[in-house]
Amino acid sequence: MKINGLPYRTIWVKKDDPSTVQILDQRHLPHSLVIADLRSVEDVARALKEMQVRGAGLIGVTAGYGMYLAALKAAPGDFEASMEYAAATLVATRPTAVNLAWAVERQQRAIAACSPSERLQMALLVAQTIADEDAASCRRIGEHGLALIQDIAERKHGQTVNILTHCNAGWLAFVDYGSATAPIYAAQAAGIGLHVWVDETRPRSQGAKLTAYELLHQGVPHTLIADNTGGHLMQHGMVDLVIVGADRVTRTGDVANKIGTYLKALAARDNDVPFYVALPSTSFDWRMRDGVREIPIEERGGEEVRMVEGLCEGQVKTVLVAPEGSPVANYGFDVTPARLVSGLISERGICPSTEAGILGLYPERAS
Ligand code: MRU
Repeated sequence: MKINGLPYRTIWVKKDDPSTVQILDQRHLPHSLVIADLRSVEDVARALKEMQVRGAGLIGVTAGYGMYLAALKAAPGDFEASMEYAAATLVATRPTAVNLAWAVERQQRAIAACSPSERLQMALLVAQTIADEDAASCRRIGEHGLALIQDIAERKHGQTVNILTHCNAGWLAFVDYGSATAPIYAAQAAGIGLHVWVDETRPRSQGAKLTAYELLHQGVPHTLIADNTGGHLMQHGMVDLVIVGADRVTRTGDVANKIGTYLKALAARDNDVPFYVALPSTSFDWRMRDGVREIPIEERGGEEVRMVEGLCEGQVKTVLVAPEGSPVANYGFDVTPARLVSGLISERGICPSTEAGILGLYPERAS
């Protein structure tokens, strides 16, 4: 997608230097565009933990490149132990997005099937394939999701379609296009009049900092709202459709996504607003059945809630907005039960958020 009219992906191998992976350091957005170099598995683990890169798809892709950098640095006599250390280090960085373990395991399987002389080439190929597949899946999610928006536009006789989204499941959370935003970009390209309500998404403000930035640079009409606004908008007929992303979806259709998603789903159900979840198949957890009980929910430091960061007189500053002595809880994600989800949009199509519906798209997962 584009920033200032120029096309970018969120991660790539540096031109003429295959030992360096480059990322857009998302901690600096929207105020400045900073490209960071990653040269080791430790660099990658830090980038994941400190959220230089974030979002389920991109977390998986970055971990894939982390395994490649580990293979590049591993001493031949110590290769297996180095790769085990790399896998454990990467998987420990963030618990909720299932894409992380998925990408690491895919690398491990591919590397284990190679002779020592082929391992490095294979690790690079797999990392690049994961990245390219991520972008292709998101593009297809856009094609499938477009039908939903087209339907609403027809029913509204061409009036603007209002879509609400939470957090950032845009291209910055993947390699390109995004999951929740892909249908929006496809509808924009199809000439459908639309407008997006962007939840600010405290405490880290991915909606305000990233989704608003993306939409602004893509020329999509949007309005930033405080997190608690969605229910009011839905009660007044100002939302036609909710589309959110996912960090992990169980085989029964329960959805883990950024904290606050569950409340939007409740408000959508109470107001008969369709609530869709867009995800590539890499975000399904085929082993889990009960999202509320089983999906690990990341808890982050209290300073993210206690403090607010922003630009002040040209400088990024962090200020305290709560009494220093008050204890803070900071749950990163919540689980929306499948019964509140109108449907799932994946690269294979749209299905009901039920085990039967999901297996209809993924019959090979039936056993
Ligand atoms: O904590 P983050 O920023 O990595 O959280 C991920 C998210 O932005 C959301 O939960 C998103 O909706 C799903 S990721 C495609």
